[in-house]
Formats: sequence, C-alpha cells, structure tokens
Amino acid sequence: MTDRVDYTGEGLDEADLASTPYAQLTRWIGQAQAEGVRAAESPEGLALQFATVDAAGAPNVRTVLMRFLDPRGPGFVTDAGSIKGREIAANPAVAASLGWPELFRVVRFRGLAEPIEPEALADYFSQRPWGSRVAAWASHQSEQVASRAALLAEFDRYAAQFPDRGNPDDVPVPPSWSGFRIRATEVEFWAGRSSRLHDRIVFTAPSAAELGASAGQVPLLDDPSAWTVSRRQP
Ligand SMILES: Cc1cc2nc3c(=O)[nH]c(=O)nc-3n(C[C@H](O)[C@H](O)[C@H](O)COP(=O)(O)O)c2cc1C
Repeated sequence: MTDRVDYTGEGLDEADLASTPYAQLTRWIGQAQAEGVRAAESPEGLALQFATVDAAGAPNVRTVLMRFLDPRGPGFVTDAGSIKGREIAANPAVAASLGWPELFRVVRFRGLAEPIEPEALADYFSQRPWGSRVAAWASHQSEQVASRAALLAEFDRYAAQFPDRGNPDDVPVPPSWSGFRIRATEVEFWAGRSSRLHDRIVFTAPSAAELGASAGQVPLLDDPSAWTVSRRQP
C-alpha cells in the first residue's frame, strides 16, 4: 500500500458550478484533456466504470470506453448478448463513474440505460480498424470459450469471410453489435480536497420510479429547469 495522499484538488464550489450537469461534465472533460490527463484505467480515451444489476439484484461492474456524449448522456458500444447487455434488457437500472485521479475528480451517474440508435452504431463500427470489426464477429462476448486458440480460429474464419480491402464496409455490422447510453437521473461531481473534506455536488432530476422507469422520459443533461443541486457530506 502507498502512503496516504492529501487530496489537493481545486475543489468545486457552488459559485463555480455550471448551470447544468452537461456543462459541468464537458467542462471537466475539456480541462482533463487540456492537461493531458487520461481517464482512470484507460490507455485510450475516457473509461467509464459501468455497473448493472443481475436478476438477483447483485451488482456487476466493468470498464467500458465512452464513445458517445451528448445531452442525452454518455454512451458506449458493446455486445447485446454480453452479460451487461442481458442484464440491461432485464433491468435498465445502471450506474457509472468516470474519474481522473490526478485531478482528484470523479463524476458519478445513476439512471437508466437506453439503446443507442442503429445508425449511430453502424457509423461508429465502420470507423473501427478492420481487426476490431472482424473480432466483433468472432467473439460472443461473455460466453465461455474452450481456449484462446478456439477464439483465434473463429477470428481467422471471419477474417477469410470478410477480407481487408481497406473499405469501411468490408465487414458488415454483426447482429449483436449494440451500445447503450446512460440516461442519468443523478449526476454527482466529486472533487477531492485537503483533510478529506471533499466537495460532492449532486444534480438530481426526478427519479426513475417517478418517471415510470422509462429512459426516454429522463430529462436532458443540458436542461437547466430539470435539475436541482445539493451538496453531500464527504
Ligand atoms: C480500458 C478498457 C476499455 C473497455 N472498453 C469496453 C467497451 O467499450 N465495451 C465493452 O463491451 N467492453 C469493454 N471493455 C471490456 C469490459 O471491461 C468487459 O470485460 C466486457 O465488456 C464484458 O463485460 P460483461 O461480461 O460484464 O458484459 C473494456 C475493458 C477495458 C479494460
């Protein structure tokens, strides 16, 4: 274990808070990018720790990369048949966090997952490197596989079927290719400060239960009339 670190971040005061969660989120993302700080646990881009719940109510968490961001919420691509995909289909309640430890900053989301539109998914798929597109056919994410050799054999099979001709449509979009957006009803901005007296400022919209658990009815992150602001103890 390392020595204790006193968190000397800038903190977050109500006076400096943006008027919407979207403006605050994009401000922090922009500041991290300007300082060359990557999101936690990712060699590329913005890594979200993304949690779902299983049928028994037990949580499940894993890393995904944020590939979409607009006022509806952050989004990522995945396999619809994966564990996360199946859990979302049964229960869209999700949570995520996005953090920059060097800046002593974390954003936490709670809300409902909503499928990303097929056109946006296909557009993103066509921009991936050929090998990644073939791998999306070869891997049935979260299923058991007998060995790494078996996975590579599947890759070779699809590589032969969809050879690399340098075109974005060399590899069709696999049927299980999907993605989800987090329609947040709560967004917390956590900013580490000295002596563990951290700032936690929370934007809250009506809860999923109040909304009838429909992701499409969750307010936009950039709607200033939808959110109330409160402060939590650290
Ligand atoms: C840095 C990083 C980025 C990842 N990005 C994604 C991603 O965007 N989508 C995805 O489905 N899995 C991604 N993964 C793999 C997931 O963490 C996870 O292993 C996989 O999605 C299967 O999760 P599940 O079995 O719970 O569905 C990433 C892993 C790491 C470490």
